[in-house]
Amino acid sequence: LDNGLAKTPPMGWMHWERFRCNLNCTDDPDNCISEKLFMQMADHMVADGYRDAGYEYVAIDDCWMTTQRAPSGSLMADPNRFPSGIKALADYIHSKGLKLGIYADMGTYTCKQYPGSIFYLELDADTFASWGVDMLKLDCCYGFELQKGYEAMSLFLNRTNRPIMFSCSWPACTGYNTDYDSVAKHCNTWRNYKDLRDDWGTVYDVIDYYGNDSVGFSYVAGPGNWNDPDQLIIGDFGLSYDQQRVQMGMWAIMASPLFMSVDLRNINSQSKALLLHKGLLAINQDYLGKMGRRVWKDRVNNLEVWVKPLMGIYFWRGSFAFAFLNSNNYGGPLKIQKSLQELGANNTAGYNVKEVFDGTVIGKYMPSDVLTVKVNPTGIYLVTAIPLAG
Ligand code: GLA
Repeated sequence: LDNGLAKTPPMGWMHWERFRCNLNCTDDPDNCISEKLFMQMADHMVADGYRDAGYEYVAIDDCWMTTQRAPSGSLMADPNRFPSGIKALADYIHSKGLKLGIYADMGTYTCKQYPGSIFYLELDADTFASWGVDMLKLDCCYGFELQKGYEAMSLFLNRTNRPIMFSCSWPACTGYNTDYDSVAKHCNTWRNYKDLRDDWGTVYDVIDYYGNDSVGFSYVAGPGNWNDPDQLIIGDFGLSYDQQRVQMGMWAIMASPLFMSVDLRNINSQSKALLLHKGLLAINQDYLGKMGRRVWKDRVNNLEVWVKPLMGIYFWRGSFAFAFLNSNNYGGPLKIQKSLQELGANNTAGYNVKEVFDGTVIGKYMPSDVLTVKVNPTGIYLVTAIPLAG
């Protein structure tokens, strides 16, 4: 969507995967979906360096509304959990130099059965704009006429004259029948596939879906338009450290939106360092905006290689990131060997190759030189190759 937003993959925090639909503010006041939760996360985004690293949106997901619309037809925030209202929350978030995201649904109900927007698109767009909302995640549960609806909502958001980053779920509901040219024209980001849960199986499942790309959505990614494999679950309960490295490394390679869904109040330091890793963020935020592609997969040994061309301010034109993955959840480290030219790197003066996570310089490689790496089970080895002058 050409609205001047999301020129690089948008970054922020979203409540869904970690905090779900926790309504129990009586017994669990610190973790229920309330204005306090979003204010505390915003505070941590500023104090702990996430905002300065580029994480910008604080995004409310499902379960913020009352179960009925107001008599005027407008959506309303639950007054017990959001006593100050969304406008006041937006003001608070803005005062921290951050932006506010909100959630609605292109159907009769949201996924958790709060009021849907299907017959209220223009009113809801105007309401969100009047509250000072900066991003809308529009889900597709209980939806119909999705393409028409999303196209219309894109127009209504545009007409508010407030820049609102538009995060769609439409392809996740239409699958193989998705008109991706229309998706890219009307949305800034879009979910293509199932929800991530707090476990490796769902993380690798979406990586494999993107690697197969049998619907052909990789080609529409670029500045203003991003495929969204779902939130980052780094720092939660289900992933080993190697698996967290895979998620961060692959979300960088796939030029994915980076929405953390973790309790920033008590995240461990290893996970925090991954989320703030400058080298990984530079690959994700590269200005060329190319989505990496899987170029090789060994289906017997479960090894694969991905390539993302780079050019932005951190790299020279003609640079690459290469990701080597071992998706086995058993055994020990396995070897992958590829020459640079097999991966599309043909600069005759060679490349400077660097491992990304530790920043170790591996050395100078000519296109015909073979890179040999060892990759842990459910692990990743990630390098950049920067062309040398001839
Ligand atoms: C769907 C979406 C999730 C989340 C929930 C909320 O499952 O895919 O990301 O928004 O709905 O109910």
